Amino acid sequence: MSTSDFVNQAERLLVPVYGRTEAAFVRGHGAWLEDADGRRVLDFFSSILCTNLGHCHPAVTAAVQRQIATLVHVSNLHYSAPQLELAEMLVANSFADRVFLCNSGAEANEAAIKLARRYGHASGGRFEILTMLGSFHGRTMATIAATGQEKVRKGFEPTLPGFRYVPFGDVAAIEAALKPETVAVLVEPVQGEGGVVVPPAGYLAALRELCDRHDLLLMLDEVQTGCGRTGTLFAYQQMDVVPDVMTLAKSLGNGLPVGAMLATERAAISLDLGAHGSTFGGNCVTNAAAVATLGVLLAPETLPRARVAAARLRSGLERLAAQHPETIETVRGMGLLLGLELRDGERARTVAARALDAGLLLNVTAERVLRIAPPLVVTDEEIDLCLAILKGALPS
Ligand SMILES: Cc1ncc(COP(=O)(O)O)c(C=O)c1O
Repeated sequence: MSTSDFVNQAERLLVPVYGRTEAAFVRGHGAWLEDADGRRVLDFFSSILCTNLGHCHPAVTAAVQRQIATLVHVSNLHYSAPQLELAEMLVANSFADRVFLCNSGAEANEAAIKLARRYGHASGGRFEILTMLGSFHGRTMATIAATGQEKVRKGFEPTLPGFRYVPFGDVAAIEAALKPETVAVLVEPVQGEGGVVVPPAGYLAALRELCDRHDLLLMLDEVQTGCGRTGTLFAYQQMDVVPDVMTLAKSLGNGLPVGAMLATERAAISLDLGAHGSTFGGNCVTNAAAVATLGVLLAPETLPRARVAAARLRSGLERLAAQHPETIETVRGMGLLLGLELRDGERARTVAARALDAGLLLNVTAERVLRIAPPLVVTDEEIDLCLAILKGALPS
């Protein structure tokens, strides 16, 4: 099948919700994808930040192959090993005492939202969750209500009540917005879909202090920033803060669908017997993939190497920005979650299209931000190739 066959079939068969670029991929290895026409493409998008260890990482592939030949699924009415191994690893390497396992970021956030509602009902009948303008938390009815972008809610009204939006990065705005019914704050440490926006230094620590003063749950959505993407296993570990709740998905299974909501004991017990569930949450195969993924992320060399790669890529992007001030407004981000904000959206789309023609896959988010997120295993040569292709794709 050629790329145009894929495009024609997708147009005929699939619900047309995605704006797709004409690229169909058939194989992946490390930072590279191969398309249906046999062309190799350097993947600096990590399949929407889901393959932080690169495509088909051997440790994850071996774990999946082993597990799929042993036991594929056990219901949550019984016990199975991979989900317990995964929970042990998550608890041992984070602030959390307990874990709820699911299959996606939206589901992890649904669990967090339900937890906050239960926590609030038990502490004075509170229910409201404050979230940030520009945030993204998923596409289910609860998570579009949590998402601070009008376009994702448009046409789905009435949306779930109990959410209000405040400016990102502004603790005073949150304090001013508090009402007696407010029970939690849900926030991304770095806004991903919102345009790779990093909050001011000290923001989350100040938010922690505010939450403590008002008995609010601080819930971090690390669906995009987690799993080594920002240079530490979780972004909060660089931000002088300990949350009550954290959600993960995307790269937790290095491409397999795994989500998790992590919580402290005090918060977790709000979800008691029968309060929540998921048929496939904790699935043996996806959770074996997550155990293998975390194993590689926690190996002594992985995150230090990712930080070195991030420094090289960032300084290269900053050089490009200095050479093209008429096109590039800023470079920002954390670790290997980087954004190049261009001066206009059309130019961002043109640069991404030219880069793809030259063999580099990037993504445009928030209209005019080129999101640059290679796998953590990216080599210096691959970074230099990305920079060379980008240079060629920028208007001269
Ligand atoms: C921060 C954040 N939260 C939640 C989600 C939703 O995750 P999923 O698409 O797996 O439901 C995303 C997806 O982009 C995300 O970036």
